[in-house]
Amino acid sequence: MNILLLGSGGREHAIAWKIGQSPLCDALYIAPGNAGTLEEGGNEALKLNDFNSIKSFVIENNIHFVIVGPEDPLALGIVDFFKNDLLLKNIPILGPDQYGAQLESSKDFAKQFMLRHNIPTAQYQTFTQSEKTQAEDYVRKHTLPIVMKADGLAAGKGVVICNSAEEALQFLNEVWEDQKFGVSGNKVVIEQFLSGIELSVFALTDGKNYVILPNAKDYKRIGEGDQGLNTGGMGTVSPVPFADAKFMQSVEETIIKPTIQGLQDENINYKGFVFFGLINVDGSPYVIEYNVRMGDPETEVVFPRIKDDILPILFEAANGNLKTTSLAVHPEYAVCVIAVSGGYPEAYEKGKKIQGLEKVKDSIIFHAGTEENENGIYTTGGRVLAIVSMGDTIKAAQEKSYDALHKISFEKMNYRKDIGNDLLNY
Ligand code: AMP
Ligand code: GLY
Repeated sequence: MNILLLGSGGREHAIAWKIGQSPLCDALYIAPGNAGTLEEGGNEALKLNDFNSIKSFVIENNIHFVIVGPEDPLALGIVDFFKNDLLLKNIPILGPDQYGAQLESSKDFAKQFMLRHNIPTAQYQTFTQSEKTQAEDYVRKHTLPIVMKADGLAAGKGVVICNSAEEALQFLNEVWEDQKFGVSGNKVVIEQFLSGIELSVFALTDGKNYVILPNAKDYKRIGEGDQGLNTGGMGTVSPVPFADAKFMQSVEETIIKPTIQGLQDENINYKGFVFFGLINVDGSPYVIEYNVRMGDPETEVVFPRIKDDILPILFEAANGNLKTTSLAVHPEYAVCVIAVSGGYPEAYEKGKKIQGLEKVKDSIIFHAGTEENENGIYTTGGRVLAIVSMGDTIKAAQEKSYDALHKISFEKMNYRKDIGNDLLNY
C-alpha cells in the first residue's frame, strides 16, 4: 500500500513511525514532514491547504490511502474535496468531512451536538455579536469563574477562564470590538466552569463502529506546576492512572457510545479519530471539547503503546468497514517530554543546531519543529522534539526521558522538569 500522511509535527512522526513498521506499507510519504519523518519515508513539500497539489501528488504516486494528521485541512473540507472528485473519490482518506469537522471547528456546533445526544458537558449559552447586550447580562448574572470561548479555531488561544465579570466583559470587547479572533469570534460560547483533572481519550470510528485507543494526560502549560501560558502541550503520560476500569466504563457508556450513535443518527460522514477532551469531576466524566484528529503530544505516547499493526485498522475505518473492536496494548507506561525553543509559546528563535540525538539509545525521539540540511538537524518551530520512553512505572519511564534530554542540546532549549510528577502517587 502507498500512503500519504499529511502534517509535520510530533504526531505525524509518531504515526509515520508506527505505520512504517507495517508489512502492508510499501511506500510512505509525509507532507510536509520534518527531519524525523525523513527516517520513516519520503518528505514532500506540499501545502496542506492546496488540495489541487495534493490531488496531483496522489495520482502521480499511485497513493492508496491518505491519512490527515492536523485539523486544518479537515476543517477546510479535504475529505469533501476527495469525495467530490472523479479521480479521488475511491481513494480512502482518514478524517471526517467538513460538516463533521465542526465538532472541533465550532464550539457551538459541538455543544449543540452534545445537548442533542445527552452527552455530559458544562452548561452553556451561545451569543452572536448582535446579542452583545444579552451576553453582557448573562455574564453579570453568572457565577464565577466563568469560561469564555471564541466559537471557531483559534490555535488554543480562544478560551479564557475569567475570575471576574469585568474580565469576561473585556473578552467580549476583544472578540467583537477588536475582532481579536476574526471570524472565529463570530459567536461566543459562555460556559460553566468545571473543576477537576483533565485527560484525553481517543476512539477511531468508521461512523458506526469504534475502537478505543490508549488514553493520555497532557501537560498544557509552559511552566512547572501547571503555571504560565498555555501551549500545544509540553508532555504526556499514558495510561492515565486515575482513569481506572470503572471510570473508563463510564466514559464509554455516557460519552463514546452516544457520540458515535449521534454521528450515525445524524448521518455524519465521519471516518477518523475522535479526540475526547474530558474532565473528571468527582469521578464523573464531562466533555470539555472534541477534536477531530489525534492529539499532539498524546499520539507520541499512545501509538508506541499499541501492539497491533494499526495500518489495516486505520484502513478499515477509512473504508467505512471497521471490524476491530479492541486493540492489544503494551502494559508499560509511556512518558513524553517536549523540548521547546526558548521563549515559546511567545516569540522564539529558529535555526538552532540540535546536538546529541545520536547519543540517545533507550528512548524514541519524535521530531516536531525540525529540518535537516547538509550540516545537520536544525530547529524550525516552537515545539522541537518529543522524547518518549517506556517503563514499568511512570517514574522509570520519566527517568529515561529526562536522561535522554540531558544528552540533547540546542541553544535556549527548554522543557518542563515535572511531567508525570502529579501522577506518581496514584
Ligand atoms: P478548549 O479549547 O475548549 O479545550 O479549552 C481549553 C482549555 O480550557 C481546556 O483544556 C481546559 O483546561 C479549559 N476549559 C475549557 N472549558 C472549561 C470548563 N468548562 N471548565 C473548566 N475548564 C475549562
Ligand atoms: N494536546 C492537545 C491537542 O492536541 O489538542
